[in-house]
Order: sequence, then structure tokens, then C-alpha cells
Amino acid sequence: MPWRSMTEQDLEAAKILADKIHVNFPEDMDVFVERLRLYPQGCLVLAEEGRLVGYALTHPWRFGEPPPLNSRLGAIPRNATTYYLHDVALLPETRGRGHAARGVERLVDKARSEGFGNLSLVAVNRSQAFWERMGFRAVSHAGLETKLASYGVDAVLMVQDLGRTGD
Ligand SMILES: CC(C)(COP(=O)(O)OP(=O)(O)OC[C@H]1O[C@@H](n2cnc3c(N)ncnc32)[C@H](O)[C@@H]1OP(=O)(O)O)[C@@H](O)C(=O)NCCC(=O)NCCS
Repeated sequence: MPWRSMTEQDLEAAKILADKIHVNFPEDMDVFVERLRLYPQGCLVLAEEGRLVGYALTHPWRFGEPPPLNSRLGAIPRNATTYYLHDVALLPETRGRGHAARGVERLVDKARSEGFGNLSLVAVNRSQAFWERMGFRAVSHAGLETKLASYGVDAVLMVQDLGRTGD
């Protein structure tokens, strides 16, 4: 069951998945539409027998400045300093089979091959341990609490540094 690129035809099903999975953090269809338009190569879906069971929304961004939930990006910054994982989400019955790990590995490979120095994300829904398993670590810095406000009380900024030749 491979991950594949998201298309416009997947948007409606992806939004339905998101509403089921992120009950407490709903995001408008506009958010999905804009991410796919701005950075289609960072939008993936996982399908099982023709039915969408997972998705990932990712894009280059500025490290330490996670976009508020349910907000549009406007544009992908030219001076991006992180490869940002906005969301990786699977239906409950599809979890625990390594699919998420394979999707994340694909995204890490992509970020590395495009020359990013790190990937980052905001862990929610008690997913911190999953991200640690994937090689991320929690970070904190002054003022971050305000930027994470829309993500709920257990939100944690996490980073995976990518060793680059010459670093
Ligand atoms: C987080 C999520 C994507 C993980 O999906 P999954 O299918 O369970 O993950 P995988 O099966 O690929 O697990 C990969 C590894 O992480 C571990 N893992 C997964 N979830 C974990 C958790 N909550 N705590 C600890 N370890 C976890 C697995 O045991 C596995 O370890 P292993 O390689 O030693 O066997 C899934 O739980 C999900 O969709 N959650 C809801 C959406 C969400 O909160 N996404 C994160 C937003 S930041």
C-alpha cells in the first residue's frame, strides 16, 4: 500500500479523513486546497483498495515559526529554513502497520535530497513518542508558546537535523 502524490481529485476525501481524525483541530478545505496548490510535491495520500486511508501535508517553511492551525500560508518562503511536516494522519484502523513510518521516511529522503538542513513539525494528539521514534527531538525557545497556541496544550515543536556534507 504505497504512498502516492495527492491530486485535486483526492482533496474531498482527504478533508473527510482530517475531520474524522482531527476532531478537536478542524481545518477548512481552503487550507488543503492552498497547500496542494503551493507545494503539490509535499502532499501525499495513502490508499487501500481505492479508498483513502491517510494523507500528509508538508512544505518548506521558516524554522521555529509554525503556521497557526487552520491558516493559509500565502506563499512558500524563498528563504525557507526547514522542511515542515504540517500533518501526517492515518485512519485508526490503518495505524500500527508501519505505513506512517514509510511515509515519513519518504519525506525525510525528499528533504535531504533537496538540501534542507532539518525537518520540523508540531506534535499534537500525544504523537511525540511516534516522532521521537522517527528521529525527531523536542525543542523549545522563547516566545514559542504563543506561536503554538492554536495547536492545543500538549503541542511540542520537534526537529530532525539532517547531516549535510561539509557541515
Ligand atoms: C501518529 C500516527 C501517524 C502514527 O501512525 P502509525 O501507523 O501508528 O505509525 P507506524 O505504524 O508507522 O509506527 C512507526 C513506529 O512508531 C511507533 N509508534 C507509533 N505511534 C506511536 C505512539 N503514539 N507512541 C509511541 N510509539 C509509536 C510504532 O510502534 C512503530 O515503532 P516500531 O518501528 O518500533 O515498530 C498515527 O497515530 C495517526 O495518524 N495519529 C492521528 C493523527 C496525528 O496525530 N498525527 C500527528 C500529527 S503531529
